[in-house]
Amino acid sequence: MNARGTLLAIVSLATLAGCGKPADDPRRSEERSRAPLAERLASADADKGLRLFRQCAACHTIAKGGGDRNGPNLYGVINRPVAQGSARFNYTAALESIGGSWTPERMDAWIENPHRVAPGTSMIYAGMRNGVDRADLIAYLALQGDAPAASPTR
Ligand code: HEC
Repeated sequence: MNARGTLLAIVSLATLAGCGKPADDPRRSEERSRAPLAERLASADADKGLRLFRQCAACHTIAKGGGDRNGPNLYGVINRPVAQGSARFNYTAALESIGGSWTPERMDAWIENPHRVAPGTSMIYAGMRNGVDRADLIAYLALQGDAPAASPTR
């Protein structure tokens, strides 16, 4: 094997071993990241979503009856009316005024960029860029509620 062949073999072994950059993870590729939400949800991984929820847990509890932190408790939030989940929480007018409910589509947009969905919201979160990650997180959120309202595909 010449030097170039050796290098190629090392590179492909490294790829097989999963040593590539996160961007090289085929599951989270740019193309899959931009696929329609229904498609991303169909192959979503709620266990990964649980791990991603760590980014939210500083400000949100999710257990049933959990308290509010900097943000409101999120139990059963999928498909629930916006800004009505916690009776005690002081929601901003910016969030209250968008009306409607937390459909999976709206949650996808919110997690990507809260300020684009509700300009002036008090949720200070930079946004989750990868669409596959967002679907994983939504799948997790949808399981934390009373069925069937929690179904992400409803
Ligand atoms: C730094 C604190 C902080 C982080 C981190 C954060 N949030 Fe929030 N979140 C808030 C605050 C504050 C509000 C209330 C916003 C308002 O009233 O404008 C909120 C509101 C929400 C709401 C609306 C709830 C309702 O009852 O209508 C959802 C949904 C939500 N956050 C999801 C998330 C998710 C998912 C993550 C993680 C990806 C996250 N948040 C990360 C602080 C945070």
